[in-house]
Amino acid sequence: MNRKFYVTTPIYYVNDIPHIGHAYTTVAADVLARRNRLLGREVFFLTGTDEHGQKVEKAAKEKGRSPKAHADLLVENFRKLWAGLNISNDAFIRTTDDAHVRTVQGLLQILWDRGEIERREYSGWYCTPDERFWTEKDLVEGNCPDCGRSVERIQEENYFFLMSKYQQRLIDYIERDDHYILPETRRNEVLGFLRNNALGDLCISRPKQRLSWGIPLPFDDKFVTYVWFDALVNYFSATRYLVPGAEAAGLGDFWWPADHHLVGKDILTTHAVYWSTMLMALDLPLPGNIFAHGWWTIEGKKMSKSLGNVVDPNAIVARYGADAFRYFLLREVPFGLDGDFSEEALVGRINTDLANDLGNLLSRFLTMAEKYLKGVIDIPSDLTAAGPHPFARECEEAAINAHGEEFWKRLQFHAVLDSIWHIVRGANNQIARKEPWKLAKNDPDELQRVMFDIWNALRLATVSLYPFMPEASEKAWQQLGLKSLSEEGKQILAGGCRWDWRPGYEVKVSKGEQLFPRIEKDKEQEKAEPEKKPAVAAASAENLISIQDFVKVELKIGRVVSAERVRKSEKLLKLQVDTGETRQIVAGIGKAYAPEGLVGRKIVVVTNLQPAKLMGEESNGMLLAATGADGIPVILTPEKDVEEGSRIK
Ligand code: ME8
Ligand code: MG
Repeated sequence: MNRKFYVTTPIYYVNDIPHIGHAYTTVAADVLARRNRLLGREVFFLTGTDEHGQKVEKAAKEKGRSPKAHADLLVENFRKLWAGLNISNDAFIRTTDDAHVRTVQGLLQILWDRGEIERREYSGWYCTPDERFWTEKDLVEGNCPDCGRSVERIQEENYFFLMSKYQQRLIDYIERDDHYILPETRRNEVLGFLRNNALGDLCISRPKQRLSWGIPLPFDDKFVTYVWFDALVNYFSATRYLVPGAEAAGLGDFWWPADHHLVGKDILTTHAVYWSTMLMALDLPLPGNIFAHGWWTIEGKKMSKSLGNVVDPNAIVARYGADAFRYFLLREVPFGLDGDFSEEALVGRINTDLANDLGNLLSRFLTMAEKYLKGVIDIPSDLTAAGPHPFARECEEAAINAHGEEFWKRLQFHAVLDSIWHIVRGANNQIARKEPWKLAKNDPDELQRVMFDIWNALRLATVSLYPFMPEASEKAWQQLGLKSLSEEGKQILAGGCRWDWRPGYEVKVSKGEQLFPRIEKDKEQEKAEPEKKPAVAAASAENLISIQDFVKVELKIGRVVSAERVRKSEKLLKLQVDTGETRQIVAGIGKAYAPEGLVGRKIVVVTNLQPAKLMGEESNGMLLAATGADGIPVILTPEKDVEEGSRIK
């Protein structure tokens, strides 16, 4: 196993106000960093800001500040957000750091000395207000394709990195290493582009008279460095001066190359093509992986300042907490695909996954442990690996899955979380099956065993969740009576997430604050919303039924004897219902109800329905539920308690 792990985010343009896109990449990198620390690796997690270029120069001028003073103010927006999101970066690089500037100049000098950079005449169409070059092909009716204003022909000298000569080497490299660019669809796009187009050389300079806010070329101080060349070098330059113990000579070589560069899909080319070929020309190793994630739309629309729908992560964190937001970002969409953000979707995830599934499990368990066992969890003295104990095996396997190298190598965060939820759901089912409240009355030994099993499942779920939700996991760890998640977590992961890990001290749980409270839609907001009523089609003579038709439907009161989820389905629950006789019913209420919450409840059942099979499970009858305006099913129950089997007419 590798001893070190180095992960990066893009360095963000310092003059941008941080938004959900910035939060996304940085949270993902944080999850990787935290997991790798738990694996006992030495971790270097780098983020930072990109501070040179026209935009910063211009914005600073408008405010009457120097570009550096301007950047000094703005960089705080990022630092503040990362603190709020619990980001555990080991360093924060700014491209205005002296040591970074010196590294960029050093590398440029090497390339210049080796003949990898050439001075050339360059001509193109220049849009002065936009400060950018266009080719003949780009122009729209002879004007700037961006703003429509007229362009002028400019001829100037510039410096070019001879990127084109690395085209074939880059293709070969990407072809040989199917992990270098991920996800695979992006890898194919890059390969397709490289195979079908002639790669040009890269202009890496800007004349100072046009742009002065940049790093001067070491071999010609009438020019500054193109901002992307400067920015990409950050990943390497940080290993010269920001890594732990950087003063010690030679340590930088321990840290380079990075294991993962996480980037958004829009900046994949600069990384996959410019950066890779720059490294080749410098004879430096390439990073282990460049991962391009997708983009978030906001309620179906592109996020943009002009639409005024830019999502401020600070506001989300203030309202829902960092953990819930982190969880949502990585659970909602497979990493690599585009996703849609809405507050409703976020609240849905919080209420279903966090409050219902996980939060209820934890708080019910803790309540029972305190009530029946004075909080003391008895670790069986004959504790062994999961072996033939099906629930233990199920949990152990799910935990091992959640730590599977394949998921983590390919950054399949949603799949990891899915495996963790397998444990959570399994533990909820186990409570429903074993009914500890009954065991408390008549079988104290079995009660202790069952409660230990739930505790152990919660231990495995919590340690696995830690990289995603560090704060809640730490708290849950304490509530479970354990001491140090980071230290014990290391032992547990090193031991392969086994069932028979033991803490070596008496475990006394303590119910603390509710970690995942339900978000209740606030009443004010509800009132303000216009009433949403589904359109009701007027009943026509054709769809009226007679009383004789209606009485054909046999409706009875049933009592839920037990309930569990149908494997591989988020929606379906399998209920054993007593309607005078016991029958199995499969119902699509799994997103709204946790199975164990249904046990003992009285419901309304259609008892003379033809049997049907749903996902391989036989269903004999149907339970009645109303669908609210939000689409969430609400089951019908009798207003007063009536005996199961009672006829409804
Ligand atoms: O590109 N959804 O900086 P930046 C998801 N300085 N991600 C999004 C997004 C959205 N709606 N909008 C933007 C730069 N992003 C350079 C990087 S690295 C050597 C230099 C992502 O501040 C976008 O994909 O524009 C990019 O990864 C980052 O946020 C914004 O970076
Ligand atoms: Mg951008």
